[in-house]
Amino acid sequence: KFEEQQILLGGIKDYMQEIRRCRRLLFIACGTSYHSAIATRQLLEELTELPVMVDLASDFLDRSTPVFRDDVCFFISQSGETADTLLALRYCKQHGALIVGVTNTVGSTICRESHCGVHINAGPEIGVASTKAYTSQFISLVMFGLMMSEDRISKQARRREIIEGLKQLPDQIKEVLEMDDQINALARELYQQDSFLVMGRGYNYATCLEGALKIKELTYMHSEGILAGELKHGPLALIDKKMPVMMIVTRDPVFRKCWNALEQVKARKGDPIVICTKGDTETIEKASTALQVPPCVDALQGILTVIPLQLLSMHIATLKGCDVDCPRNLAKSVTVE
Ligand code: AGP
Repeated sequence: KFEEQQILLGGIKDYMQEIRRCRRLLFIACGTSYHSAIATRQLLEELTELPVMVDLASDFLDRSTPVFRDDVCFFISQSGETADTLLALRYCKQHGALIVGVTNTVGSTICRESHCGVHINAGPEIGVASTKAYTSQFISLVMFGLMMSEDRISKQARRREIIEGLKQLPDQIKEVLEMDDQINALARELYQQDSFLVMGRGYNYATCLEGALKIKELTYMHSEGILAGELKHGPLALIDKKMPVMMIVTRDPVFRKCWNALEQVKARKGDPIVICTKGDTETIEKASTALQVPPCVDALQGILTVIPLQLLSMHIATLKGCDVDCPRNLAKSVTVE
């Protein structure tokens, strides 16, 4: 209920006492679902003040990661059937942790084997590339953070800001979708390239990873999501005037750091396309192409910045004659290890 600043996730409400008492939160998933946990980690750390671990299911199992009875383990999966995620769930259950499923498929194996959970209610997702499930997983995890912090006086102002931000999101998403023509034109400039780098940091790092995954999955183009803070530690060597780069430089706490990265890229003759905050003339003037997203609360920005990349990958794929719904070599549910 927006007016009462009240958030209720029915599938976990009876377990909230136990979850609040835990000593660590673990988020385990594959691919896009993993990115939704990366996208919300910072906010979950802030709102819960608990250690938050985010892991890829396959790697989590390879490491035989220590898990304890007072851990709460979240398994995020659109399909609810992903083998690696399911095996990690069973491993954590054997170690006595509380299991929370975050799925889009009611009655799926991950649903059934969890102690409690959240249905993200994104509606059936047909295309192999996950899009609406990502944004819905993102919102569900934000809502979980809001539930965890509802009794904390010190978090009330931040909660109000985020709840207000959630209220504005539907209109802001519509506004971003209206950029489709501009993004289609950009796709025409890019579709014959071999590579595409996506850079950003802070709340937008997950958008870089997820955007690059969408580009490679749908267009078969090499694409990398790069944490802008790592630029000087290797990726800068890739930059020259021919390398296509997109940089996410929105008005948030890491804006100046992103701006430095933008200048570093420009100094190497790079000509990055930027995703920036609407009306930010300082950044717009720095780039030959700027995709302007509406200003919104920092922790929710990833919802708005990922959409241009989802659209871009679809347009590039279409121009290249690739099957947007069923990319080669991939399946919607990955039920093998
Ligand atoms: C996303 O576009 C991919 N198809 C893929 O990374 C997917 O997110 C991953 O296989 C996990 O699937 P799940 O969410 O159904 O567990």
